Amino acid sequence: MKAIVTGAAGGIGKATALRLAADGFSVLVADIHAERAAATAAEIRANGGLAESRGIDLTDRAALLALADEAGPVDALVNNAGIFDVRAFADLTADDFRRMAEVNVIPLFELTRAVAARAPRGARIVNLASRAYLGASHYAHYVASKAAVVGLTRAMALELAGKGILVNAVAPGVIDTDMLKARSDTDRGALAAQQPLGILGRAEDVADAIAYLASPRLAFVTGQVLIVDGGRTLGGFIG
Ligand SMILES: NC(=O)c1ccc[n+]([C@@H]2O[C@H](COP(=O)([O-])OP(=O)(O)OC[C@H]3O[C@@H](n4cnc5c(N)ncnc54)[C@H](O)[C@@H]3O)[C@@H](O)[C@H]2O)c1
Repeated sequence: MKAIVTGAAGGIGKATALRLAADGFSVLVADIHAERAAATAAEIRANGGLAESRGIDLTDRAALLALADEAGPVDALVNNAGIFDVRAFADLTADDFRRMAEVNVIPLFELTRAVAARAPRGARIVNLASRAYLGASHYAHYVASKAAVVGLTRAMALELAGKGILVNAVAPGVIDTDMLKARSDTDRGALAAQQPLGILGRAEDVADAIAYLASPRLAFVTGQVLIVDGGRTLGGFIG
């Protein structure tokens, strides 16, 4: 079994690459940070798993298509690479929106299309959305990019169903990764206190959900969004 995990130099992507390798996948680790991607692959191999890495800027369409070509048929693709940025709505520019779409949406669409063209029946695609797709303040451009990921997931699930390809998304809440550093206005303790469970999520918590949706046992679940947020979207709590 072969998997591609994008953005796997650190955070959720790295935890996912380690988890999929432990589940028996040969993992292609792809990230703009070539050295850190190589370190993820080396860690997998040190654990007895199979992995290779590629340094790639996924906004480079030619490089992305070459990656899909080189990988050939894959059983699971995890579209995890993404960026985050905090900016008040009043200060947002069209360029801010374009940049979010260029990194968080377009490569996901292009890579899924290229991989799906070569994928065997039963292949699984897992896209990283965010619980923020439901709405959040001070990063409307990120919210919009993740709402696009959810829309694409649902549309691609329908269009790829005929080829037997399953397409799902995971929508994490607040997860303790490097991405959290962009939220320097809020300290981690205060963020944790806002969560019903009173804790932040770990990259491994998200990797578990991704591993389920990437598993060869998945057969009858497609077009779904699995929210992994410690109950944050439930509402009805004080804090
Ligand atoms: N951390 C959270 O709280 C959280 C919450 C909801 C959703 N997410 C989503 O989960 C995914 C992973 O986030 P994370 O928290 O692990 O963040 P992270 O910043 O640790 O990881 C993102 C990875 O994507 C890579 N990347 C960025 N742009 C790239 C490009 N152009 N080409 C190739 N690689 C690129 C980065 O180098 C990095 O390794 C993202 O899609 C993010 O939006 C994270």
